[in-house]
Amino acid sequence: MLSLGVVTDVHLGPSASFGGKLRKLSHRAEPLLTQFARCMRDDVKPDLVVNLGDLIEDESPEQDDAHYCRGVELLGASGAPVVHVAGNHDRANLSSERLRSVWGLDAAGPLYRSFDEKGVHVVVLATHETKDVEVAIDDNQLAWLEADLSMAKAPTVVLMHHSAADQDLKGNRWFEKAAHLCLVKQRKRLRRILHDSGHVRLVLNGHLHWNHLDVIDGIPYLTLQSLIENIEEDAPGEPAAAYAVVRVAPTRMDVTVGGAQPARYQFSRA
Ligand SMILES: [Fe+2]
Ligand SMILES: [Fe+2]
Repeated sequence: MLSLGVVTDVHLGPSASFGGKLRKLSHRAEPLLTQFARCMRDDVKPDLVVNLGDLIEDESPEQDDAHYCRGVELLGASGAPVVHVAGNHDRANLSSERLRSVWGLDAAGPLYRSFDEKGVHVVVLATHETKDVEVAIDDNQLAWLEADLSMAKAPTVVLMHHSAADQDLKGNRWFEKAAHLCLVKQRKRLRRILHDSGHVRLVLNGHLHWNHLDVIDGIPYLTLQSLIENIEEDAPGEPAAAYAVVRVAPTRMDVTVGGAQPARYQFSRA
């Protein structure tokens, strides 16, 4: 069995408003991330900790680098190896090379990759957002994914920042009128590749700042709420403090979302 402790959209950096209301409680990000890491180290003890992206709120190349390194340091206190996914805010001022080297990887490779852990194949995708235009996944990455999944035989979990589902966005504070800025443009093709592999069990993402589940052709596409989203309407606000614990076993998988908006999902196979 593989266990994951997951956090997303930490947005270390300046607080942010949307529509004139305080929405990102970034000034609470450091203590909340510290609390998450402590909870993982002392209670959950997952095999891996996952950062689904947007570890920072972009500001400037210098500030972003400092905030990103601080975030990685705080996550490191979890005591588990950390798997990082690149978010749009992470990539605004930081290069792929810089992100990979802060993650402890060879600077030269791509942001997408895969590995096996405790009998589970883990795929990390790197969706790319062009600000105010679209979210995309490129052909090279889709070709790599298809080849990767055809070689892997183990149950597979896919980690990405944006969503590959066709979510009903009604009521989403950030994206109700902007599907093109949260759902991957090539999602139909991407979902076909995931489905046709026959062994993708779960697709996890952040970015939309809410908890949402779509099951499409038998595959759960799960969006996790941001750690620092204000669950109240405006200042001073209350953070969602969201995180998830995912357990993948041969015939059962469960996801527990902790924080101010708790949820629990279970998927079973005969
Ligand atoms: Fe975000
Ligand atoms: Fe994002």
